[in-house]
Amino acid sequence: MRIDVVTLFPPMFQGFLELGLVRIAREKGLLEVVCHDLRSHATDRYGTVDDKPYGGGPGMLLMCGPVFACDEAVTSAGRAAGLSQPRRIMLTPQGRRLDQPLLEELAREPWLSVLCGHYEGFDERIRQGLAPLEISLGDYVLSGGEVASMVLIDGVARLLPGALGAPGGAQDDSFSGADRLLEGPQYTRPRTFRGMEVPEVLLSGDHGRIAKWRRECALQRTRERRPDLVRGEHEEPNN
Ligand code: ADE
Repeated sequence: MRIDVVTLFPPMFQGFLELGLVRIAREKGLLEVVCHDLRSHATDRYGTVDDKPYGGGPGMLLMCGPVFACDEAVTSAGRAAGLSQPRRIMLTPQGRRLDQPLLEELAREPWLSVLCGHYEGFDERIRQGLAPLEISLGDYVLSGGEVASMVLIDGVARLLPGALGAPGGAQDDSFSGADRLLEGPQYTRPRTFRGMEVPEVLLSGDHGRIAKWRRECALQRTRERRPDLVRGEHEEPNN
């Protein structure tokens, strides 16, 4: 998968791209991330990318010119690499809430182009002309889309087939698999730590019992913490 990121702050991505799972996915050739400095597509010699809103009001807006010019550069670079059309994404608090099904959908795309916003927002014609899928992390406002785009890229990268060590490694995560429950408690060595024991069932070697216990714990945890995720369909006993 190729991801182009359009940002005012390419250096913010350096550490992110060079560490952890994202680095591994890149090294395995599963993911290519190309950052583009929006300012280098400014249409004046001062590198201006923002301007005051017509009609007045606080703050500045990202201008159409640099964004469209950068989008054209991204599209030609991807086409030169043999791709056809990017799925355009805009990070904004007004977008569709990012969740695991959306990450799964995006992980199936060959090419994403991610626009990180700044200032008070975007000139509306960016939405109109580029028709991006608008995505939000949640009902709060960040100073820009960079951190949000890293969340998206991280979430997508770990879903790319072969990125995680174990095959099907993402299947048991919270919000994943067929029923999208929260994951239950997990333990590693030692068996006893400061008087706290690993549940006996996990040491039993009985895989049927372990699977049943895990599912019960996942259901219980989901009911307690996120009842909105359990809409009756898991409530029957012995299910
Ligand atoms: N940019 C600013 N706030 C944001 C949010 N909540 N989600 C995505 N992008 C943003």
